[in-house]
Amino acid sequence: MPGKIGFLWVGVLAFQAFYTFSSEAADPQVLKQRVPQDQIAEARAWVNPFPSTPENIEKGKKLFHGKAFCVTCHGRDGKGLGKIPGLVGKLPRNFTDKDWQTARTDGELLWILKNGSPGTAMAPFIPLVLSEEEAWHVLLYVRAFGN
Ligand code: HEC
Repeated sequence: MPGKIGFLWVGVLAFQAFYTFSSEAADPQVLKQRVPQDQIAEARAWVNPFPSTPENIEKGKKLFHGKAFCVTCHGRDGKGLGKIPGLVGKLPRNFTDKDWQTARTDGELLWILKNGSPGTAMAPFIPLVLSEEEAWHVLLYVRAFGN
């Protein structure tokens, strides 16, 4: 058992080192699945119950730029601020990256809003900042950056 844990740590450290010294764009580590393997099937089964209408996207936009403060890290244009003073580790995601948009299902993105992306500055927002319903609206806006 200790052997297995040691092996895991080597993997985690190698991953962190790789990420720190590589750039965000076209980085395979960006596309790498964030949801743990034992939860991925469940997360992928979650479907956004709200249609992508201009009104619903507008609701998400207000939250993104307002009380959910996504804008502070992901930027007004959704491209993700590069180096943020005091922010260590992975950079905020660039939502205009079409490869990334294709790589993720809506359910995986909701999982991130529920759990955060462990080991990064991406924190959980549900339920403290956003209700699940609000989060689905924000995700419609996140998807709109990919169009
Ligand atoms: C404090 C900075 C910060 C704030 C605020 C923030 N994020 Fe993030 N976000 C990040 C970072 C850093 C990552 C990259 C994490 C990673 O690579 O796993 C990220 C990644 C993501 C991802 C991509 C996860 C994936 O599967 O690739 C989504 C979606 C996301 N954020 C949505 C949001 C939304 C929506 C909000 C507002 C409710 C928000 N973020 C607020 C820093 C932030």
